[in-house]
Amino acid sequence: MRVGIIGGGLMGREAASCFGRWFALADVPVRAELVAVCDLREDLLEWFAQVPTVQLRTTDHSELLAREDVDAVYVAVPHHLHEKIYCDVLAAGKDLLAEKPFGIDLAAARRIADAAKASGRFVRVSSEFPFAPGAQQAIEFVRADKLGRVLEIHSGFLHSSDLDPDKPANWKRQAATCGEIGVMGDLGMHTVHVPFRLGWKPQRVFAQLQKGYAQRPDGKGGTVECDTWDNATLTCDVEIDGQTVPMRLEQKRLAPGQTNSWYFEAIGTEGGVRYNTRDANTFFTFDNSKSPGWTREDLGHATPFPVITGGIFETGFPDLNLQMWAAYATERADQLNDRFGCATIDEAVASHELFAAALESNEKKAAVEL
Ligand SMILES: NC(=O)c1ccc[n+]([C@@H]2O[C@H](COP(=O)([O-])OP(=O)(O)OC[C@H]3O[C@@H](n4cnc5c(N)ncnc54)[C@H](O)[C@@H]3O)[C@@H](O)[C@H]2O)c1
Repeated sequence: MRVGIIGGGLMGREAASCFGRWFALADVPVRAELVAVCDLREDLLEWFAQVPTVQLRTTDHSELLAREDVDAVYVAVPHHLHEKIYCDVLAAGKDLLAEKPFGIDLAAARRIADAAKASGRFVRVSSEFPFAPGAQQAIEFVRADKLGRVLEIHSGFLHSSDLDPDKPANWKRQAATCGEIGVMGDLGMHTVHVPFRLGWKPQRVFAQLQKGYAQRPDGKGGTVECDTWDNATLTCDVEIDGQTVPMRLEQKRLAPGQTNSWYFEAIGTEGGVRYNTRDANTFFTFDNSKSPGWTREDLGHATPFPVITGGIFETGFPDLNLQMWAAYATERADQLNDRFGCATIDEAVASHELFAAALESNEKKAAVEL
């Protein structure tokens, strides 16, 4: 799988590092190689000069898309550019790993989805955390019907760096480039991926949205207005086995003490699971037939796509990203079988439906039906 990257910033370089250690994957049927990169910033293109497989570094994404030696393209650019660049990738006949939120708003997401389906290309959306060993165990626990009657579901993704008022703003702090959905566009796909895959789609949502600092340094000696929602707490109703179950989805940039904490928790009458990437090696379950309390288990490096890494080591974000890329390459080769796949187009559009309803709910201060 010969890959091109459009957008070589934070995430573009993370992807490059995955291809750089692809050999750590023990039995993925595809070899992945980075062959071309596009970014507007010369300093970033310079960084990619150290990647020996890269044949093209350009500031013009159409030049990258014209190349015959690019099979699949990863696009990691600001949200207002998603629709144009994703559609260009598809029109060029390339497969796509799109970054979330898959367009700046619901209308854009639906247009991209239409273009993707019409193109017949293989398209998936980035979301790494479900590939964590603890997340995989939690999914297995739920699928094995160990919860009994589901009582509540909590899923969230928490950052704290916006608590620093001196942190310079970037495009993620402005609705024009990040989207009106703000933090939900940044963190929301991560919180809904597992619940959606388990079939837990909200019927209605009550949203409480909060803004952060209205002004921040612009990094050039001045200040800039910041108008995005920083915290979003969505309380949803989900229908499971004829019962209405509360599901709380938290997306926050103002969560004290949380650096990059992705968590998932499901509690039922018979059992429960709890996992948080902040404690990457720790997995909690309870089995009510044995004890009403929680049992703690150490996980090690039990990733869904085996790697040469010793089983006793802990996982971190770059490991999960490599796992996600392994899933993308394996599913693209039609060899995923029953393993967990990347977020789908339909899941991304459904996330936008939820976030649009959340905006409406917050505006009306009322629950909104989906
Ligand atoms: N999956 C994750 O865990 C995760 C984490 C962070 C960000 N993201 C997503 O990744 C995407 C990018 O975020 P980021 O944090 O990497 O941002 P970033 O600002 O670090 O990088 C974006 C890059 O896009 C480049 N760019 C802008 N316009 C371009 C154009 N027309 N052609 C080529 N390059 C262009 C910029 O120069 C910049 O280097 C967003 O969709 C964001 O939501 C995902």
